Amino acid sequence: MATAVFYASSTGNTEIVAKSIAKNLGIDAVFDIASNDVSKIGEYDKVIIGSSTWGDGDLQDDWDDAWDDFCNLDFSGKTVALFGLGDQESYADNYVDAMGTLYEQITQKGAKVIGQWPNSDYSHEESKAQKEEGFFVGLALDEDNESELTDERINVWCDEIKEDIL
Ligand SMILES: Cc1cc2nc3c(=O)[nH]c(=O)nc-3n(C[C@H](O)[C@H](O)[C@H](O)COP(=O)(O)O)c2cc1C
Repeated sequence: MATAVFYASSTGNTEIVAKSIAKNLGIDAVFDIASNDVSKIGEYDKVIIGSSTWGDGDLQDDWDDAWDDFCNLDFSGKTVALFGLGDQESYADNYVDAMGTLYEQITQKGAKVIGQWPNSDYSHEESKAQKEEGFFVGLALDEDNESELTDERINVWCDEIKEDIL
């Protein structure tokens, strides 16, 4: 089955990015988990998953609401690319933490995660989304401070994951 993008978004930033990533890769299946059951992820072997971070390092609310069901999903045999939105200046100690939370859960359930992204161009201090020195576990974006870099970051990342995620 084709690839799908799953996201949730409180003020619309992650939604815009999810649609932009899908367009870039020619993916038609884009699902907001506020209105789609997370079990739909089970229908796809290749998925792109995105969340913004809220509170102090928390998942976005709709992901949080779906979390118990999400934790029941089996990711073995699935290839997953992650993206996260956050604010590296105001939340420098928790920048895109939600992406790290997603990563921990899906790797525990067998996912192969692709699309690691270098962290050197960011000014944050700490992030739960850094598991390997020098890298985020997926694409990190910052619409609050660096929206002018978003399109180019998406282009480069999509080029990198294209072969494995499509
Ligand atoms: C109250 C509040 C708490 C936030 N907490 C974090 C945080 O802990 N870490 C982070 O990286 N960004 C944080 N952010 C920034 C949001 O993740 C960012 O604005 C994001 O683009 C929102 O995307 P959305 O509209 O798709 O939900 C926070 C923003 C607000 C207003």
